Amino acid sequence: MSDWKQLCAVDDIPVLGARRLKRARGADVAIFRTEGERVFALLDRCPHKGGPLSQGIVFGERVACPLHNWSIGLADGCAAAPDEGSTQRFSLKVEDGQVFVDVEELATLAIDELPACAGACEHAA
Ligand code: FES
Repeated sequence: MSDWKQLCAVDDIPVLGARRLKRARGADVAIFRTEGERVFALLDRCPHKGGPLSQGIVFGERVACPLHNWSIGLADGCAAAPDEGSTQRFSLKVEDGQVFVDVEELATLAIDELPACAGACEHAA
């Protein structure tokens, strides 16, 4: 059962952009907004080498990682072929223009992931 917490208004997220949600443990979560006003939440770490997806370019329902341009699906967190891998997705809902996130998921999913890094990344796999 979800434990929803109000995060922000949809209008607080830039169109075709993102904002970051810091967590007590684990990497930040990126909250994305599409041109069509849809909102998605993914761990702010690219499955390639940990790039900060929140700083990528949103197009359609995908984001292009700012480091090496992998295309990551906002709905499923999966990299587009021929690249392989996925990043954690988080539940989210929008009601009356407000964005809600699941507190339980934020506290438990992917909490061992290091924060995203930009440029040369010493903790990249
Ligand atoms: S770190 Fe995202 S494409 Fe390389």
